[in-house]
Amino acid sequence: MSALLIDDISVEFGRFRAIDRLSLAIDYGEIRGVIGPNGAGKTTVLDVVSGITRPKAGRVVLDGGLEITRASETLIARSGVRRKFQKPSVFDALTAAENVAVGVEGRLRRTAPAAEVRRRALDLLDAVGLADEADRQAGEFSHGQKQWLEIAMVLGGDPKVLLLDEPVAGLSDEETEKTAALVRSLKRPDRAIVVVEHDMGFVETIADRVTVLHEGRTLFEGSMAGARADARVIEVYLGR
Ligand SMILES: Nc1ncnc2c1ncn2[C@@H]1O[C@H](COP(=O)(O)OP(=O)(O)OP(=O)(O)O)[C@@H](O)[C@H]1O
Ligand SMILES: [Mg+2]
Repeated sequence: MSALLIDDISVEFGRFRAIDRLSLAIDYGEIRGVIGPNGAGKTTVLDVVSGITRPKAGRVVLDGGLEITRASETLIARSGVRRKFQKPSVFDALTAAENVAVGVEGRLRRTAPAAEVRRRALDLLDAVGLADEADRQAGEFSHGQKQWLEIAMVLGGDPKVLLLDEPVAGLSDEETEKTAALVRSLKRPDRAIVVVEHDMGFVETIADRVTVLHEGRTLFEGSMAGARADARVIEVYLGR
């Protein structure tokens, strides 16, 4: 049973077909890397799964049953699908702990005492290596720290399906290594993680399998080593 099943979806923007009958199944416990050239449709796939973009055809199904193809963004998030966007969108005027408290699951936030919400926020900051920065304003953070903070925020929803769009874009080598360790630490038997990235070295260190997209279709699916050796992947992506 797949944690996330993308079944034969197509997305059109006007007359342009951005996703063309794409199918993708991600298992629980898996980290899937999604790679491919600019404009391949990687972000659009995440937009479909998170309910931002409606596919023209096809289905998105969670956990072998719940169909979310036409569900609202809110319902999809409540069903355990959480997304980190390509650009970090933390609240600069709030502290790290306050940012994470916003992301802590709605039900807990409404009913729990402030001290419990704070404890949960500190746990999440600890999980991303920001425990010592809890009371600093997010606006003072480096780009890398903002990325990790945003990961802590999405973890507040205890995601069953975690979608990360370019988590290491613009990061230094050291920050990228730290992020790889962080993403690996998020792997759980009851969670599926989808990571869109251009940094092949990073993808290689975190992904169990990779899917290479090209012009809205799957060009390759398998190991990163297999992708590197695939003549078509080299031609449209790696060789450039
Ligand atoms: N809202 C939109 N309206 C029109 N065209 C769009 C829209 N969103 C995406 N596209 C087009 O769909 C194609 C796929 O875009 P998408 O952002 O999914 O690519 P990507 O693989 O994430 O690329 P990148 O690596 O540059 O982030 C591109 O040609 C893009 O211009
Ligand atoms: Mg993109």
